[in-house]
Amino acid sequence: MRILVLNGPNLNLLGVRAPEVYGSTTLDDLVTQTRAWAAELGVAHVEDFQSNHEGQLLDRLHAARGQVDGIVFNPGAFTHSSYALHDAIEAIEVPTVEVHISNVEEREPWRRISLVRPACVHTIYGRGVEGYRWAVRHLVSRSAWPVERVRYGDDPDAWLDVRLPDAPGPHPVVVLVHGGFWRHYWTFDTVESIAVDLARRGVAVAVPEYRRVGPVSRSEDDPPVWDAHLDVARAVSAVLSHDEIDGGRWAIAGHSAGGQLAIAALDALQHSDGGEVEPPRLVVSLAGVVDLPRAVEDDLGGGAAGRYVAGLADPVRVSPMHRLPLTAPLLVAHGRQDPSVPVAYSEAYAAAAADTGVDVESLITDGGHFEYLEPEDPAWTAVADRLVASVRS
Ligand code: DQA
Repeated sequence: MRILVLNGPNLNLLGVRAPEVYGSTTLDDLVTQTRAWAAELGVAHVEDFQSNHEGQLLDRLHAARGQVDGIVFNPGAFTHSSYALHDAIEAIEVPTVEVHISNVEEREPWRRISLVRPACVHTIYGRGVEGYRWAVRHLVSRSAWPVERVRYGDDPDAWLDVRLPDAPGPHPVVVLVHGGFWRHYWTFDTVESIAVDLARRGVAVAVPEYRRVGPVSRSEDDPPVWDAHLDVARAVSAVLSHDEIDGGRWAIAGHSAGGQLAIAALDALQHSDGGEVEPPRLVVSLAGVVDLPRAVEDDLGGGAAGRYVAGLADPVRVSPMHRLPLTAPLLVAHGRQDPSVPVAYSEAYAAAAADTGVDVESLITDGGHFEYLEPEDPAWTAVADRLVASVRS
C-alpha cells in the first residue's frame, strides 16, 4: 500500500501554535511518527507534503491520482472554506480520510462545517495526533477486506458494516460493538482491524455504528436522549436477517462502552416480545463498562459516563451488572493494568454472573485497555479463538 500524508495551512506551526488545543508534537515529529505507525501496519511507502497554499494542495492531490492507494488529509482551515479541495478529492478517486487533531465539533461553530467531508471515506477528529494512526489503520482495513454497508434506520449513524468470508454462505456471524465512552469522536474504525481478522478466520462480521453523545452536526433541538443500545439492538436484528447470514449462529462482542451496549442490546432484544432472535452462542465483554452507576460514581472517561447516563430514561436498565442473569454464555476479558476501565468492573461482574448461574469464563490478563483491538495481540487472539469456535459449533 502507498499512502500520502497531506497537511494544510498552519500545520507547519504544530508544537508552537496553541499547544493546549493541538499538543506539543511538531509537524516533523508527526510525520516521523505517522511513518512509524504506518510501517507497523505494514505500509512501507509513505509520502508527505504540507502547504499553506490551497493551489499547491490541489496540485499535490492531482499528482496523487493513480500514484497512491490512500490519503490521510488534514486540510486545516481550508476544511471549512474550500469547495475546490472537495472537488479535487472527489476527482482523483483515491480513498481519503479527513483528519483533525482537535475536536472540531466542540469548538467554534464554524469548525463544525466541513466542505471536504462528503468526498472523504471517513473523518477522524478529536483524537490528537493519534488520529493519523487511526486514519492509516482505516485505509489498511478497508483495502484488506470488502465491506458492505447496510442501513438499519433513518439516523445518519444508523448503519452497519458487514464483512463476509470468502466462501459460499450463509455464514455464522460475530457482531462487534465499538467503544469510546459513547462519545461521538470514537467510531466504528476502532474495531475494523479485528473485524478483518475475524473475516480472515472464516466468519462473517458486522460492525454497527450507533448514535453517540455529542454534537455531530445535529440540530440544537435534538432530544438529549441517546438510546445507543437500542440502535445496536436494531442493528443486530438487521444482521440476523441478512441473506448471507445464518441467524441461528451468532455471537456478540463489545469493547469498553461497547461491552455495555452489546449486553444492553441483547437484553432489549430478549425482552421485546421474546424470541425474536435466537440466543447468541457467546457474549463477550472486552474491558467492558459493565456497571453504569459505578462508572458515574468513578467518573469514568472524565465525565463521559455521567453525560451518557444523563440522557437515559433508566440507566440501571442498561447496566449489565444490574440485569443479571444473562441468557447466554458469557466471556469477560480485561487487562489488569487497564487505566480507562478498572479490572475490578469485570471481576465483580463475572462473580455476580456466576452467582446467578450464568456460564461465565473470565480472561483476566496482563495488559491495558486497547490490546483487544490489535489482531496480533494475544489478548485478542484468545478472545477471537473462542468467538470463532462458538459460532462454528
Ligand atoms: C485542524 C482544525 C481546523 O479547524 C483548524 O483550522 C486547523 C487544524 C485540526 O487538526 O484540528 O488548522 O484541522
